[in-house]
Amino acid sequence: MKTIEMLIGGAYVSGESTLPVCHKATGEQIAAICTAGEAEVRAAADAAERAFREVKLSPYERYEILMRAANLMRERREEFAEALSAEAGKPIRDARGEIDRAYQTLILSAEEAKRLRGETVPLAGAPGCAGRMAFTIRRPLGVVCAITPFNFPVNLAAHKIGPALAAGNTVIYKPASATPLTAALLCDVFQEAGLPAGCLNLIYGEGGRVGRLLTADERIRMFSFTGSVLVGKVLHEAVGFRRISLELGSNSANIVHEDVADVAWAAEHCARHAFVNAGQVCISCQRVYAARSIYEEFCAAAAEAARNFKGGDLMDVHTQIGPMISVREAERIEAWVEEAASAGARVLAGGQRTGAFYEPTVLTDVTPAMKVVSEETFAPVVSIIPYDTIEEAVAAVNDTRYGLQAGVFTRSLAVANYCAEHLEVGGVIIGDGATFRMDNMPYGGVKDSGIGREGPAYAIRELTEEKLIVLNVEG
Ligand code: SIN
Repeated sequence: MKTIEMLIGGAYVSGESTLPVCHKATGEQIAAICTAGEAEVRAAADAAERAFREVKLSPYERYEILMRAANLMRERREEFAEALSAEAGKPIRDARGEIDRAYQTLILSAEEAKRLRGETVPLAGAPGCAGRMAFTIRRPLGVVCAITPFNFPVNLAAHKIGPALAAGNTVIYKPASATPLTAALLCDVFQEAGLPAGCLNLIYGEGGRVGRLLTADERIRMFSFTGSVLVGKVLHEAVGFRRISLELGSNSANIVHEDVADVAWAAEHCARHAFVNAGQVCISCQRVYAARSIYEEFCAAAAEAARNFKGGDLMDVHTQIGPMISVREAERIEAWVEEAASAGARVLAGGQRTGAFYEPTVLTDVTPAMKVVSEETFAPVVSIIPYDTIEEAVAAVNDTRYGLQAGVFTRSLAVANYCAEHLEVGGVIIGDGATFRMDNMPYGGVKDSGIGREGPAYAIRELTEEKLIVLNVEG
């Protein structure tokens, strides 16, 4: 069995101990990873800091390396997709889709390396400033730490590493321990693409301990984290005045208004957005507010879509849903659904668990206090709730500590505009669901859903310092 080492300063390092890596569908151990202790975390920061000081790549050279890495990833698409499917329990067609997205994300990042620019400051417009001019430039921050989750381990890593390198930073990359195989492949393609040693360092390890070691090292100038609100808050407290970008959870909602052209289509679409990746998506469709006049039809169609959502062999291209990341996670959602049912919720479809596999599940008659509504389920479970007025629906969507994205299905410009104005989220998607994401768009939340925006063009702003240059031309 393969033991995967960490990559520090261009060398493969074995570290303090090892952790098993299991196939998420079969439970069988498929690899082991070497994990970092204090010495390896320090070595990674030393290497990243040294590389930041010593390696001077021009923006064009960074562009070329990122483009080469993207192309190498595309050449090895199947190898990436199979590793991703095994480590994350992702159906192969979704795994291939994620690699295709990551390829685009790296290209978008490469393009940003060329576009890095500041702006002119019209200083002479200020009293007494004739003869002075000013402009800003964008400088890299230094060492950036990318901490990535298990649900989209390749693309979300590309979203952090790509723009960080494009900006001229160096990176310490700490992937989720559940999905370490594709992290090693990603580092491989960067090495092969000619990224100098120390610019990208890979460490594995238990999140809490490694996280504490990383945040204690003041040489790390920015943390970019995707994961739970709980860990996000701990990190936020630990980083002090250093930069941080947090992409955290949500209990995303869609509003389906009475004027929607095709209720069955909307229901099937929302259901697909609820069950894809076994619901382990920060913008998974967890709540649907359906206008009362279409509510019954919507519920019946969503339940039908849940029953038709196909589980099975992950390598079968027709399989739509695999297991959750662990039995423990599946047991958690099973308990939440049972708790909701015993408080009056109706299970219209699904509700059963086999090991780590949880059936696509549709609930109605839920209340705002139930965990399946108020907390992030991160599971293939959707709740459908009727509403009478659009104001009531928007207020219900907003009645949460989260605010990542929301979707609105309507043909009314007035309703769409009202929702766009009043929904308290980072992105409002009209005519599609909250789960819609293209990798070039700004992506991030408000409230407990996080701080900052991803999408290479937006992330790169946070990964650079804007520096002012004033010229006293006549001085
Ligand atoms: C996430 O779960 O935050 C990422 C969703 C996506 O990229 O589609």
